[in-house]
Amino acid sequence: MTFHLKQPLMQTPAEDFAEAMSALASGVVLVTCWIGDRPWGMTVTAFASVSADPPTVLVSLAAEAASARAIAANRSFGVSILAADQLAVARHGSAPGATKFLEQHTDARAGYSESPVIDLALAHLDCEVIETVQVADHIVFFGQVRAVPELHQGTLLIYHHRGYRTLAEPGRHPHRPTERSLRCLSS
Ligand SMILES: Cc1cc2nc3c(=O)[nH]c(=O)nc-3n(C[C@H](O)[C@H](O)[C@H](O)COP(=O)(O)O)c2cc1C
Repeated sequence: MTFHLKQPLMQTPAEDFAEAMSALASGVVLVTCWIGDRPWGMTVTAFASVSADPPTVLVSLAAEAASARAIAANRSFGVSILAADQLAVARHGSAPGATKFLEQHTDARAGYSESPVIDLALAHLDCEVIETVQVADHIVFFGQVRAVPELHQGTLLIYHHRGYRTLAEPGRHPHRPTERSLRCLSS
């Protein structure tokens, strides 16, 4: 009888992984929910469109985050896609250990929404959780988009190489995308 010893999975150091991921530019969103009856939001780049029909998205949240616990309990969340001038909201939603209540940033005039809507976000998606998958120390929430109560024109807030950036003004670098196509807001 032959025994095949299972090789342990190779794992790259966390720093190498973080360095590799910093090469990828991402839009920045605030994942919103209710904690008690107060609006709360967490800054996230692990957001993606999954399917157009039915409209489905995913967000990957640290399982220990207050947002993940609230979303798991309420089975709903919102996604506000942030504009370049919403750096303060992004910082508010990513401050480690701080409360992330959003009364100062939410839009009471937005169309009907189950989830809190960030004032003047480029877009807001109101989502109902249809599936959750725990992977390592994160929970991936799949959400079916129930409504899009907010849409505004504007320039996207981008996170790239560990800093907030935005697109340079259109027309200033018309030739081909280079590093100068991104304008640094902070690092
Ligand atoms: C640009 C940026 C993107 C982030 N993306 C994610 C993400 O996709 N998922 C996640 O769990 N945390 C992400 N974080 C970290 C959380 O925003 C942050 O750790 C969290 O809000 C802190 O919550 P806590 O106080 O409950 O620990 C990101 C932070 C920043 C600055």
